[in-house]
Amino acid sequence: MRTIPAILTLPPRTLTGRDAVDHLLVECRKFGPRGMLVCGASLIRSGVRDRILAGTEGSHDISTWRHPGGEPTLDQLEQLLAAARGHGVDWIAAVGGGSVLDIAKAAAGLLEAPAPAVCYHDGESIPSSRIPFVAVPTTAGTGSEVTTVSVLTNAATGVKKSIRDPSFMARLVMLDSALITTCPSHVMAASGLDALTQAIEAYVSRNATWMTDVFALEAVRLVAQSLPCVYRGDRGSACDALLTGSSLAGLALSNARLGLVHGLAHPLGVRYHQPHGLVCAVCLPLVLAYNREAMGAKVDRLSEAMGGDVFSRVQELMRILQLVSPFGGKWIQDEDAIVRETLASGSTAANPRDVTGDDVRQILRELFAA
Ligand SMILES: [Fe+2]
Repeated sequence: MRTIPAILTLPPRTLTGRDAVDHLLVECRKFGPRGMLVCGASLIRSGVRDRILAGTEGSHDISTWRHPGGEPTLDQLEQLLAAARGHGVDWIAAVGGGSVLDIAKAAAGLLEAPAPAVCYHDGESIPSSRIPFVAVPTTAGTGSEVTTVSVLTNAATGVKKSIRDPSFMARLVMLDSALITTCPSHVMAASGLDALTQAIEAYVSRNATWMTDVFALEAVRLVAQSLPCVYRGDRGSACDALLTGSSLAGLALSNARLGLVHGLAHPLGVRYHQPHGLVCAVCLPLVLAYNREAMGAKVDRLSEAMGGDVFSRVQELMRILQLVSPFGGKWIQDEDAIVRETLASGSTAANPRDVTGDDVRQILRELFAA
């Protein structure tokens, strides 16, 4: 008998539709008059930030915080926290890619926390947050809008890892596919492969439930079908499918965790400064091969969803999307530290096959082979 899984965390409200973001501040007003809008430079350049803010005079007191770009760091988070506390915000909304969503989510989650953010990054227990977080993605990849996870880097130590708490879940999610249509094709490709990797890893995770399997498998199907179309320039229904697939993958991973690809991707990404989606994409075939036996009958379900043998379809997608490994022929920096961080990762702990240090070294050798 199928029962509701012992733990299931979902966003309480999601609004979907093209130009839904035009209603963002009307919705946020329900959480209070003082808020902070977190976004990246591209949202300001495109005029969408001004469109969101138009017509709010008198009814809102909105401050904007612009993320400086790159992957979010603890220093940036402290700056955002200081700005949000100084403004006395009732809520924090983020409109942007995964980095923008992650840093704003952590700011809402830690706004009233007594300790500096670094303490929670180092493992201190996170107190439950009362500050509403509103998430509007402008890329289809991380699924951050529907997860309780924020991935942050400590620039002083070089450690990139996630912090999480159930209270980090967005109170409101807006899925407006018009926002992703201006995303460049190469960004769509890498972030789309991140969504695919997340869906596959959540599906075969040792924490998977029948319900996360439903989310994950549909995400695999939607992303595998729509990503080549979006990459070739389809900015219509394929964008809707890609954004839906990305969010479903986020729901799956938030409840089932991930696997060895993400265990490797964080220490590799922080050392080689490569986009997260690209790192995931090039690690995925190696980890799939490594996990082949442990995935059991799920390999067949994955192949059905991918429209062909999962191993060859992943390789084919990478060729179509012109994704080239940034590691081939390079020297492995800090191999011992990469192995240590990979083994310590919560993602690696959810991998369907037990992982040893020798296994990680062998995968790294294959990844860095010329
Ligand atoms: Fe990811």
